[in-house]
Amino acid sequence: MQAMIEFRHVKKAYGDKVILKDFNLSVEKGEFVTIIGSSGCGKTTVLKMVNGLLEPAEGDILVEGESIREKDQTQLRRNIGYAIQGSVLFPHMTVEQNIAYVPNLLNKRDKKKTRDAVSKWMRIVGLDEEMRERYPAELSGGQQQRVGIARALAASPEILLMDEPFGAVDEITRGQLQTELHQIYEKTGITVMFVTHDISEALKLGTKVLVMDQGEIQQYAPPKELLHHPATEFVGRLVEQERRMCHLPDDRLEECEYSGAGAK
Ligand SMILES: Nc1ncnc2c1ncn2[C@@H]1O[C@H](COP(=O)(O)OP(=O)(O)OP(=O)(O)O)[C@@H](O)[C@H]1O
Ligand SMILES: [Mg+2]
Repeated sequence: MQAMIEFRHVKKAYGDKVILKDFNLSVEKGEFVTIIGSSGCGKTTVLKMVNGLLEPAEGDILVEGESIREKDQTQLRRNIGYAIQGSVLFPHMTVEQNIAYVPNLLNKRDKKKTRDAVSKWMRIVGLDEEMRERYPAELSGGQQQRVGIARALAASPEILLMDEPFGAVDEITRGQLQTELHQIYEKTGITVMFVTHDISEALKLGTKVLVMDQGEIQQYAPPKELLHHPATEFVGRLVEQERRMCHLPDDRLEECEYSGAGAK
């Protein structure tokens, strides 16, 4: 099967500092890949390369079998939703205008359709209607983050890149957003790459987990496999606590809630 996203022998450096040496990764259509690793190991760099915000020094990145060098950049980005680390809303635009930014581009004439779409996405990410006319500076950090997520989803992209999207929200909201994202994923069959610092989030949401350390892939496998057969010491340390929280001996680990099928 043709991969949805593929990295082939990608090298990326900032000045003399090599971040990715020979990076190879294949993401199937409909996969939910969670990415976890030490700070500065190259996770954001990987995401930014998928939608062409950063270019590889060597190697190639393919989306639906075609090198992104060959693709029209505007078209490519329209097909890829991107919710990044921290807030990058347009400060001079209201919540509604921020969310409608892309649908508007695609759907200039049908104002009502755009309005309805904005309401729908605001509901999904749990933003009150009364926030519609507010500006980003008038929202909390977590609310801004949710606007960012709504904007990424509103264009109905085929690929969704999320860089620690739930970093600035409390535990309860985070749980709700995880469940909502999982439902959206199930409904749409979208392909997701999701960076997180939280191993339990990575195991819960991912159909596959990509563990990185210093620009290298430590393991790329379904959550259960990480728990059963950590490929390296680094992965072992990462999942150790999660294994203990299951309170189960190794041979009964499958009874643990992580089925690889997403949030339960
Ligand atoms: N524009 C840049 N110029 C120089 N170095 C950079 C640049 N962007 C990132 N780096 C460096 O490249 C490395 C990888 O950065 P990246 O943002 O991909 O890490 P990350 O895995 O997302 O980290 P974090 O978990 O902290 O977000 C880091 O060491 C970072 O300092
Ligand atoms: Mg990052």
